[in-house]
Amino acid sequence: MSSKVALITGAARGIGLATAKLMQADGWQIAMLDRDTDELAIALPQVPGAVALPYDVSQPDQVDQAMSDVFDQFGRLDALVNNAGVADFGPIEQTDFQRWRTVMETNLDGVFLCSQAAIPMLKASRGCLVNIASISGLRASTLRVAYGTSKAAVIQLTKQQAAELGEFGVRANCICPGPVRTKLAMAVHSQEIIDAYHDAIPLNRYGSEAEIGHAIAFLCSQKASYITGQILAADGGFDSTGVGLPALRD
Ligand SMILES: NC(=O)c1ccc[n+]([C@@H]2O[C@H](COP(=O)([O-])OP(=O)(O)OC[C@H]3O[C@@H](n4cnc5c(N)ncnc54)[C@H](O)[C@@H]3O)[C@@H](O)[C@H]2O)c1
Repeated sequence: MSSKVALITGAARGIGLATAKLMQADGWQIAMLDRDTDELAIALPQVPGAVALPYDVSQPDQVDQAMSDVFDQFGRLDALVNNAGVADFGPIEQTDFQRWRTVMETNLDGVFLCSQAAIPMLKASRGCLVNIASISGLRASTLRVAYGTSKAAVIQLTKQQAAELGEFGVRANCICPGPVRTKLAMAVHSQEIIDAYHDAIPLNRYGSEAEIGHAIAFLCSQKASYITGQILAADGGFDSTGVGLPALRD
């Protein structure tokens, strides 16, 4: 097989699944990793020919097994999309250590572990990493002590990866999505939060999974061959507007 191979984590639904479909349409061979094996079984036929990796990104031995499966199946890896994530919104004083660790072990440890395990194959292919952070990693807001901190760390991790891996021809970039109506977001977005986002976002709406997926696919493509270490917000303008004051609009 000659076409390039992308491994997408958290690919059983939401942004990850949309990205898998888009990148397959662009000619990529796809490996879909997710710890939710039931959702993965439902998603797999939607990306014909994709390989399922039923693993947890926070578990080092499972991450190693996933990379070994990719090598056995395809013999190469050209792009790793670190998309698997969990959200838990709560005040600082109610975020006990277990809640903190649950967020960190997937959102931060998972990106570190998967990237590190993929490096030998990415060096061989002069491939790339795309890490999925969030606008919550760019701007602090209430209730995001664990989630926002994990995503800010992913932004810095991306820059570290770009600095160290560039000499091997490996690029590392980061997408910061704004709000998208996925299962993850709807579990933590109340109607009040949804209305506030609509007010604060210049485009006045949530994004779609595909709108995030197109940005990811671009950064994985040869069209982005001179782009590394960059943080791209796909957020309807949210990050660019600072403290939004809807009252000052016409
Ligand atoms: N939806 C949004 O509004 C939004 C905004 C900003 C950033 N993001 C980020 O986008 C990414 C995708 O989120 P989504 O909204 O599509 O969520 P989602 O919940 O629809 O999908 C996430 C997938 O990741 C999988 N997953 C979670 N932890 C895992 C682990 N430890 N190992 C393997 N798989 C795991 C889940 O099973 C699920 O299939 C996340 O990193 C999220 O933080 C989402």
